[in-house]
Amino acid sequence: MEYNRNLDRLPHYLFGEVDKAKDELLSQGRRVMDLGIGDPDMPPSRRMVEELKSEIEKSEWHRYPPYAGTADFKQAAAEFYLDRFGVSLDPDSEVLGLIGSKEGIAHLPYAVLNPGDYSLVPDPAYPVYGNNTLLTGCMNYYMPLAEENSYLPDLDAIPSEILGKSKLMFLNYPNNPTGAVAPLSFLEKAVEFGRRNGIIIAYDNAYSEIYYDEADRPPSILEVKGAKDVAVEFNSLSKMFNVTGWRIGFAAGSVEILRNLLKLKKNIDSGVFSAIAATGAYGLRECRGDIEAMRKLYLKRRDLMTAALEEAGLEIKPPSATFYLWCKIPGGGDSTAFCKQLLEETGVLITPGVGFGKYGEGYFRISLTCPDEDLEAAAVEIVKFFNNRNTG
Ligand code: MLT
Repeated sequence: MEYNRNLDRLPHYLFGEVDKAKDELLSQGRRVMDLGIGDPDMPPSRRMVEELKSEIEKSEWHRYPPYAGTADFKQAAAEFYLDRFGVSLDPDSEVLGLIGSKEGIAHLPYAVLNPGDYSLVPDPAYPVYGNNTLLTGCMNYYMPLAEENSYLPDLDAIPSEILGKSKLMFLNYPNNPTGAVAPLSFLEKAVEFGRRNGIIIAYDNAYSEIYYDEADRPPSILEVKGAKDVAVEFNSLSKMFNVTGWRIGFAAGSVEILRNLLKLKKNIDSGVFSAIAATGAYGLRECRGDIEAMRKLYLKRRDLMTAALEEAGLEIKPPSATFYLWCKIPGGGDSTAFCKQLLEETGVLITPGVGFGKYGEGYFRISLTCPDEDLEAAAVEIVKFFNNRNTG
């Protein structure tokens, strides 16, 4: 049987491959210190778990939810945006509930692109942006994110013949995998670029609440005047409340983009489980204060790992947001082989930079979302590994 040929355009899903390598080592009875996927190890707050327990008892929540999300969840998302970013949203037309932000990001190209269209995709980046464009049969133009440009794409470097065919541009700050934060001035430039070229901007802000200093508090692209004409922003409760498994997020911004995304989604899914949506609304209203303790924990972990990498002789700039450390392999080289060797010799699992795109080659990513004892053990192993490498 010949399956959809577009599937052949995709590499194996990055974190599926990472899981496979981990399972192999575990099956040999080895200890694995998993600094791979960004999946918070800490539980959600007790209050949110108790709220979910009580919501799940409500029989009305067990029927089909509204396709666009419950009115209350959309209202809570709008209140969050007003309070956090000063962005005013009409909950009915400018907010759309999602089964996690990944779901909305993945579906967007199907709602936007026609044969022959291009998506502008950062590289390195979360693989979901580019992969779904490939699944639609369309093309990606990869915008390099270079260290010397603070991991911002150079919009002026996109060739005009590509611009003419581009319909969609993905941007993501705080950035996965580099940890970079975009200043509002860049977001203004991006909105102006989108308006001028008729390109929709899909802005992934899933890490908006994972920052270390009030002075670096990441903005929303919707703070930019006129952004709602061309942009849709994706946010997620996964990382702010440690609920990656709950699958709840939302998109906000352009009425027209959201209307088309919803039209597509109605043919694919049936919305977010209402007990989860009700608890999500509760979390957005009542539990955002709990995020501060998590930021402190990630800060401690960030500093511990930064010190270890420095001790190992690596150059590392600690991120001002996200729970990722993005680091150059001394001397560059094959990041897959490097990560494999580290895993086999030490049990420390990290993600090869090339998994995020060809411009990620020569780098690796460390996620701080693992228990402290594993992170501390991993730091010791990493120092030993590099010392052996340097002397060996
Ligand atoms: C990552 O590790 O890049 C993220 O956890 C993936 C995701 O959010 O789906």
